[in-house]
Amino acid sequence: MDIEKILQQFDVDINKATNCDELIEIRQNYLGKSGHLSQVMRMMKDIAPSERKSFGEKVNNAKDRVESLLRTKKEELEKLAIENELKNAKIVDLTVPCSENVGSLHPITIVQERIVEIFKSMGFSVEDGDEIETEYNNFESVNVPKNHPARDMQDTFYLDNGELLKTQTSAGQNKIMRKYGAPLRVIFPGRCFRNEELDASHENTFFQVEGMMIDENISISNLIYFMKTMLSNVFGKNVEVRLRPGFFPFVEPGFELDCSCPYCGGHGCNVCKHSGWIELCPCGMIHPKVLEMGGIDTDKYQGFAFGLGLSRLTMMTFDIDDIRKLNSGELKTLKQVKVK
Ligand code: DAH
Repeated sequence: MDIEKILQQFDVDINKATNCDELIEIRQNYLGKSGHLSQVMRMMKDIAPSERKSFGEKVNNAKDRVESLLRTKKEELEKLAIENELKNAKIVDLTVPCSENVGSLHPITIVQERIVEIFKSMGFSVEDGDEIETEYNNFESVNVPKNHPARDMQDTFYLDNGELLKTQTSAGQNKIMRKYGAPLRVIFPGRCFRNEELDASHENTFFQVEGMMIDENISISNLIYFMKTMLSNVFGKNVEVRLRPGFFPFVEPGFELDCSCPYCGGHGCNVCKHSGWIELCPCGMIHPKVLEMGGIDTDKYQGFAFGLGLSRLTMMTFDIDDIRKLNSGELKTLKQVKVK
């Protein structure tokens, strides 16, 4: 077969091609192992030696031409395919507000933002904490030395370099004291991690909001006032608070703070297990050792600290019965919660 005829036939074929699959077939027919041009190349041995060079050139030029036309045609067809897709696509007005499947803030974020707003209005600043912490920040600096039994309750995930995933937002206390000194009003929300047996009220990943107020003449009365104001705001109604003794190495005295049940007004219901009170926020007066390690002059300043269980408060606020749902990405639960 002569080269001219092959090229003429190629032009006919390529002009008829309407999609990339057809182009693959055409390539095979002309350039493939037993394609037309490869067969022509095999005729070389029958050509007179003096004409071989020009024959070889002719075949190679023909191959180049086929290659280049195939490439151009492929680009053309791809462009056309996109244009067709766009032409047939349902045109949506992107400015029309969407009524279904609207994303929303995570329930934890919603409650955290409320708490942040309340504390800001009371003159507190908000700090961001790290999730990977040194052992010193997480334990030693808050008066939990190595071998202290309190460490047993907060086993966590250790990194090869000895750092750990923080078990409590209290891990931020020392850094923040050192950064700002006294007087200080600050809250620092954060994600915490513990090696837990999982159940409806225990997760390996959960959220807390830590707070500190350090100034001259700070007493338990200040602590009670701020906690009562914050909780009344979160629940949108006036609540009472009460303190019971509680042990935490970083506070002295330390307390468990209960809040009168906002759902039944203290008369007793399922949420408060018919006691009228809900245990919500461990707290206390910051231990002088912790203040000293943070570089605070303990002759002049005292302070209170608290560690609010944000995951727990979120569950109460939105009536979520299992803490594991909060991190599950399970839309059935998360969708029920809308910013109010
Ligand atoms: N860090 C404690 C925990 O996770 C909670 C806590 C208790 C924080 C008392 C405080 C505090 O600041 O004063 O169990």
